This record gives sequence, C-alpha cells and structure tokens, in this order.
Amino acid sequence: KSYIYLHKKLLNVYEFQTVAAIMFCLEQINNNTDLLPGVSLGYKIYDSCSSMPMAMSAAMALVNGNEETVYLNRTCSKTSTAEAIIGLSDSSTTRGVAATIGSFQIPLISHTATCACLSNRKEYPSFFRTIPSDFFQSRTLAKLVKHFGWKWIGAIRSDNDYGNGGMATFLQEAQNEGICVEFSESIYRTYPREKFLKTVDVIKKSSAKVIVAFSSSADLAILVKELLIQNVTGLQWIGSESWVSSVNLAKPVNYRVLGGAIGFIISSAVIPGLKEFFLNINPSKSPGWNELWENIFNCTFATQDKAANINPCTGSESLQGINHVFMYLSELRIINNVYKAVYSIAYALHDLLMCRDGQGPFPWQVNGENVYFDENGDSVARYELVNWQLTEDGTVKYITVGLYDASLNVTEIAYLVFFKIPVSVCSESCHPGTRKAAQKGRPNCCFDCIPCADGEISNTTEIMGEILALFSLFGACVTLGIAAVFFIHKDTPIVRANNSELSFLLLFSLTLCFLCSLTFIGRPTDWSCLLRHTAFGITFVLCISCVLGKTIVVLMAFRATLPGSNVMKWFGPVQQRLSVFAFTSVQILICTLWLTIVPPFPYKNLKSSTEKIILECDLGSVVAFYAVLGYIGFLSIICFVLAFFARKLPDNFNEAKFITFSMLIFCAVWITFIPVYVSSPGKYTVAVEIFAILASSFALLFCIFIPKCYIILLKPENNTKKHLMGSRGSARANSSQHRPQGRKQTPDRASAHRRAHTHTHIPSTH
Ligand SMILES: *[C@@H]1O[C@H](CO)[C@@H](O)[C@H](O)[C@H]1NC(C)=O
Ligand SMILES: *[C@@H]1O[C@H](CO)[C@@H](O)[C@H](O)[C@H]1NC(C)=O
Ligand SMILES: *[C@@H]1O[C@H](CO)[C@@H](O)[C@H](O)[C@H]1NC(C)=O
Repeated sequence: KSYIYLHKKLLNVYEFQTVAAIMFCLEQINNNTDLLPGVSLGYKIYDSCSSMPMAMSAAMALVNGNEETVYLNRTCSKTSTAEAIIGLSDSSTTRGVAATIGSFQIPLISHTATCACLSNRKEYPSFFRTIPSDFFQSRTLAKLVKHFGWKWIGAIRSDNDYGNGGMATFLQEAQNEGICVEFSESIYRTYPREKFLKTVDVIKKSSAKVIVAFSSSADLAILVKELLIQNVTGLQWIGSESWVSSVNLAKPVNYRVLGGAIGFIISSAVIPGLKEFFLNINPSKSPGWNELWENIFNCTFATQDKAANINPCTGSESLQGINHVFMYLSELRIINNVYKAVYSIAYALHDLLMCRDGQGPFPWQVNGENVYFDENGDSVARYELVNWQLTEDGTVKYITVGLYDASLNVTEIAYLVFFKIPVSVCSESCHPGTRKAAQKGRPNCCFDCIPCADGEISNTTEIMGEILALFSLFGACVTLGIAAVFFIHKDTPIVRANNSELSFLLLFSLTLCFLCSLTFIGRPTDWSCLLRHTAFGITFVLCISCVLGKTIVVLMAFRATLPGSNVMKWFGPVQQRLSVFAFTSVQILICTLWLTIVPPFPYKNLKSSTEKIILECDLGSVVAFYAVLGYIGFLSIICFVLAFFARKLPDNFNEAKFITFSMLIFCAVWITFIPVYVSSPGKYTVAVEIFAILASSFALLFCIFIPKCYIILLKPENNTKKHLMGSRGSARANSSQHRPQGRKQTPDRASAHRRAHTHTHIPSTH
C-alpha cells in the first residue's frame, strides 16, 4: 500500500481501498474450494510512499522475506520469498521496482501503472498489468481532439514517467493529425508554488481554448486550486484516465474550472460482497487501519493526543452509513483491476500446482471478464469516453459518451455532445480571395490571410467551369432533340436508309459523351476521379464503334454489289451489334483493369506552384490513361481510313463523306490535345480535355446528323425514296467519272445496290 502525506492527516484513502480489496479477494480465493484446494494465500503489505527508495526497500523485503511477517488467521507454510507482487500505484516507482526484481523472476502485477514504457519486455521481463498501457489512450486522445476540430491546444503533464511518457505519445500523434500545440507545461506536486503560478500565467496568456492534461490527480489538484483562485474558467479540459476518473477532482467546487471535461476511463464493474467486507473492517482486528480510522472519524488512538483534548477513538465506530471517500464503492474501476490482478495470480498458481503449464482455463474468467496478458504483459485496452456533467443534486457525474476496445478494434464513439464545443484554432481559415501566409517562427496552424494577387484566384465560382458545363448540357439537349426528330420521322426513307439502329445508338452515346464532360468540372472527389477518364473512354469508344459500324456497312454495301458475293449476309444487324459490343468491351476491360489495379484518386498538387494548391486527380497509372486514349485513337484512325475509302462510293445518301469529315475533325482535335495536355499544368489541363471532348462530340453530331435533319425538317420533298434513288444515281455517275482506276460500273451493280440497300439499311423489315 502507499499513502501520501500532502500535509498532516491527509491520507490517500484510495490506497486503503486497494488494500481492503486485496484482503477481500484473498479471503474469497481461500474460501473457494475449487481454486487452489488445500493452499492458502497470505500477504504482506508495504507502503512505498510514492518514493523510489521506500519502494525499493519494500521490494527487497518481499524478495528476501527478512521482515516480520503478517499472516492471515490461518496456518500457512512459511516462505521467505513472495510468489508475486501487486503494485505499484505510479509508473515511476513501478519502473524502478520492475527493473530490479526482473532478475528474480517474481511477477509484478500493477493495477494502475500505465506508462507505455513498461511494455518493454527486455527491461521489465516479469512485469504485468491489469490496466491498459497509455499507448492506446494517448493516441485515441489525439484522434478525439482532431474529431472536434481543435487545432490549437495547450498541453499539461505530470513531470514523471506517467505524464512525460503519455504526453510524448500524444504529441507525436497530434503532430501526425495536424494539431498544433501552443504550450506544453509540466507540473509536479513537490514543485514550489511559483512554478504552479507560472503555469497558470501561461494558461491565462494563451489563446488555446482546449487543454490536454496528462497528469495524476494529485498534481492537477494543486494546479486547479490556483486556477480557481485566479478564476481561469471557460476552457475545455481533456484528460487522462488518472485524473478524469478521480473522485477527488470531480467535485462541484472544481467544476468551475474543469466543467465539461472529457477523457477516457476504464470501465467499472460490480464485485458482490465487497461492500459487506468493507463494512466489517475494524482497527481492533488489525492496527494497520488506525490511521484510516483517525481520518474517517476525526479521532485519535495516540495517548498523548488524548490529553490534548482530541476525540479518542473507541475502535467500535461503525462505517455503516458514513459519507467518506473510503466507502465510495459505486464505481469500481481501479478496484476491479486489483481484483483481476489477485485472481490472475491465484489462477496462475493453480495451473502451476496442477502441473498445467499454461493449459488451464486461459484466458481466465474473472468477474465475467476475460483476463489475459499479451506477450508484453499488457492487458487489453478497453475504455469508456466520459464527459463530466453537473447533476441537479449538485454532484459531478460521468456521462459515458463513447467506448474504445482495442481487442475488438472498436472505437464506438457517440460524441453525444453534452457541452458546447469551443472553437480552438490559432487562425480561422482564410476567406475566398485571400490565401494563407505562414507566420515566421510559429506553428503551421497559425497563419495570416493575405489578399490574393490579381489573377491568382477569384472569390467567385469559376466562370470557365460554368461555360463549359453550359456547352455540354447544350450539346446533350441538341443530341436528344435530334434523336426525337429521328424517332418522329423514323418511317421516312432517309432515316430508314441510314441504319436507324446504329443511328440511335450513336445519338445515345453522343449524349453520354456530352454529359461525361461534366465529371471533369468541379472539385475532384473520389468518385469523379474514378469516373472521369473511364466514363469518357467508354462512351467515346461506344461512339466511334457506331460510326465504324456505319462505315463498314457502307463499304459492305458496295462490296455486296460485286457479282457472286454475299457479304451482306455476314454484316447484318446482328453482326453490327456484336461488333459494337466487341469494340466497346475491349475498352471496358482496359478501364476495369485500371480501376482495380491502380485507380485514380484526388490529390493536392503543391508542387507546380509555391503559392497555390491545385486540386486534381492523380491518374494512378499514366500507362492506363494513354491505353484508353490510344484505343480511342486506334479505332478512330481505322474509322477515318475506311470512311476515306468509302467516301466516293455511290450510295443512296452517302454517309461516308460526312463520316470522313467528322473523323478528320475528331482526329485533329485529339492530336492537338495531346501536346497541350502534356504541357499545360493545373486547371488548364482539365479545361483542355473538356474542350477536346466537347469539340469532338459536336463535330460528330453536326457532321453526321445535321445534313439529315436539314432534309427531314426543311426539305421534306427530298425525303422520298425516289429522290434518294436519284441522288444516288448522280452520285454514281460522279464516282464513276472520278474513279482513278476508271473501272466501269456494270448495269448489274445498280440493282445489286438496291438489293444491298434493302438488306442492310432497313433491318426493321426483317
Ligand atoms: C469466507 O468464508 C467465511 C466463512 O464461511 C465467510 O464468513 C466470509 O464472508 C467468506 N468471505 C468471502 C470474501 O466470501
Ligand atoms: C483465529 O485464531 C485464533 C487463535 O489461533 C483462534 O482461536 C480463532 O478461532 C481463529 N479464528 C478463525 C476465524 O479462524
Ligand atoms: C469578393 O470580393 C469582393 C471584393 O474583394 C467583395 O466585395 C465580395 O463581397 C466578395 N465576395 C464574396 C462571395 O466573398
């Protein structure tokens, strides 16, 4: 046990609770006939006084067994060396003792020492603990601070292993999360008052509204006292387990300073029979309780004090119904750790005596909870996130707002906000039209906002984006309009003559082409980055495949006129659909590979300019991007070449020349695009790409469909079979005149044309 004299008669009553809990637990184990049958466990209790020399001498006494032994009222075999040691309360003395007794192979199980440093198996080979290491707590506290958007905080720590170790982990994690620390002060209960006043001064002068304190409750209590005197209130305190769970601090009087504090505490448990055991404690059974008795009942056992008019203790005072910290047993947090520590020793000894080396009931069930130690001697990290609230009856209550369980990988935090979340930032984020400018010698959370230079950025939404979006919507509407016109006139010869199925598919894919340029506009998100190039790649290939299909139909129609050939049989509507599908599938495959292996993602480009941050999509794989573009290019060049050969072939309404022209524009646009894309950085890359998409889509739309719309809407008298035949006739005349090889058209051909025409161009009649 350890107790701390802050001044005369002020005991650390919690340590008496710990001692009583150990006694209760041992009695329960000795009563239990299943656990360690025939063996009784005894104990010796030493006070370390939180001082290293006293802790060391106590540990040596336990190892050597050279001190007077206190036994239970039972016969026990006398061993000179303790089987195991439970303790100590603070990390610093625990480190010293654990390092020393490690070589004796005596397990040391602590119920409160949380320093992450104690997980080092090389230095502390026989150390175990039933409280989680601060490693988890520190890191989770940093995440908590980030969650509430606090970027600018103050840090206070106990100047011991607990505070320094916990704070070091916290600060490292905070730095990773982009949190800046305005000040970091240390406190310790033995520091002179001036040092505490200096810390109060630092807090008063600071602008941080949030203070993270990794401190023991005794150290923080002194600071809080000074803060109360100087009325330093209105700060949000975030705390470590040690003080957040302290009943001593969670008092209404401190609420003015610490009100609304949040922090992680270990879960409480119910231990049946403990309260009855506590009520039966009496100094007449063991003189060890005298000091506690004097403290609780404000009396004295010392004879010389009796003379000095101080109440003498009778020893028969009753603990029943008293209001004293010693009897606060509703929240058993640390005591549950003590309980688990004692039981794990008992279970381990039991297994040892039964010659079941590690094969026993493992992990042990203590009080319905699995107790086990990992390879570093640590127990599993399980915390509740609590918020201090003042209840109506004037007491401070812990409201659980979250859970953390490292074994289940669960951070289930409700963040039920019972308090007003303060804003704690060094500088507010800059308004549109201004930019961050770092302040020399200050953390990067602090910055000035200075107006942007002319032409850098405007505080309005970008106009270019809006214009391009308007164009793309306009294109999509025109395309749908043309589709409507074609649908209304679907039975007129000109629509039927031009392979209406492919035409409608082409119009559909053109609509998608226009719309897909919208994914390039606006702030890049995960989705728009994934979509933009792949959607573009697939819709464009669909588009080109349709045009290619049309071109092949024209070519085939001509081939079909050669005597004895029956090509049209193998490029009918089914084959057309299949070829469009096959061409598009290749691109879908490329895109699928791209998205699954190296998907594009949004990122902030800080490199291309020192003063600007450009939000853009990283391609993920440049190779994939050029494969997508290359495939489109490959198809469009084939299409262009075929259309070029077919452009002078006679047909009823020769699409080939329009296709040639549109492909010419298409290829020109994309050939210009590549060098511009490679050379122009930032938002212009995107603008250029949108421009290329819109230009090539409009080229296809206007070249292929506008001439037909012109005839359908404005020259309906030309939209007759007869007229189309006539135009074809003249086209044939022309083409035979200009044919380089001077091949003669046989009369057969004209009728073959008609045949091909009926076969291929009116699939709906099949
Ligand atoms: C142990 O057994 C004794 C005798 O039966 C009983 O009085 C005592 O309460 C028991 N102690 C505990 C902790 O169960
Ligand atoms: C305690 O020890 C005394 C003396 O040895 C004995 O008379 C008494 O019965 C014991 N009490 C219990 C509860 O074992
Ligand atoms: C944009 O800047 C102008 C001039 O600096 C200012 O008057 C206007 O209020 C700003 N608009 C917004 C939306 O911030």
